Amino acid sequence: MIGIFDSGIGGLGVASKIRKKAPRADLVYFGDLANMPYGPRKTEELFELTLNAMRFLKSQGATQFVAACNSLSVAVIAPLADLFETPKTRVIEMVVPTVSAVCKRTHEKILIAATLATVRSGMYERAFAQQGLSVDVIALSKLAEAIECLAGENELEAIIAPAVQKAIDLHAKLLVFGCTQFPFARSVFSRAFEKRGYEIELFDPSEAVADEAIKTFDVEGEGLNTFFVSKPSQVFNRKVVDLFGSHTKVTSINTEKPVDN
Ligand code: DGL
Repeated sequence: MIGIFDSGIGGLGVASKIRKKAPRADLVYFGDLANMPYGPRKTEELFELTLNAMRFLKSQGATQFVAACNSLSVAVIAPLADLFETPKTRVIEMVVPTVSAVCKRTHEKILIAATLATVRSGMYERAFAQQGLSVDVIALSKLAEAIECLAGENELEAIIAPAVQKAIDLHAKLLVFGCTQFPFARSVFSRAFEKRGYEIELFDPSEAVADEAIKTFDVEGEGLNTFFVSKPSQVFNRKVVDLFGSHTKVTSINTEKPVDN
């Protein structure tokens, strides 16, 4: 059973790609809406939230994990991987598969748009530097939450404007969505660049992360889809129905109570 977690709908992009590529994989998803957004949080909090999510998913039968949230992977996955990685328990995060997919694609100027936690951590710069590439990053602190709240096109366009400007100033050829919610605003990014007459490739790493999960994990099961959230959300429910079909149920759990391990 693969346990996938994020602060909200972001990880559903990764989950739906795993589902398409591995129809028999058993998936259990946790969207921590009660604690979203993760982006402004400190490393210690992110560590706790990751631990809670993984313990909960473990209690639901997960033995293999995808932290489908850049803000978590950069801050806490290394120590968590040590805690959880046993021959039976595996953890995949966003940064390593993203960097390796981007390096295969281009060595031209790259801009990564992410949350504040991801930008503060400097993880992307370090990971690209190990591949001999220098990249630029920009924090779009309000974007993930705005997407979760179904903000309108104008509001989203205003939030992403600094990233559009920075990409143009840098003559960037590729803009990487370094937060899993951002690809859900792809059309807003496309239109904003079109309006400026600037051509750029928008890169969603969820496909690469799904490929990594399929390569690494046992994906032979019964094709189960199970979804949990820590706070009910119509937006989350609708996204699950869009991506996984109308029969799919979302259960809201109370994470204030200690989670069984
Ligand atoms: N989905 C997360 C990420 O990829 C975090 C979004 C948030 O809750 O701030 O960075």
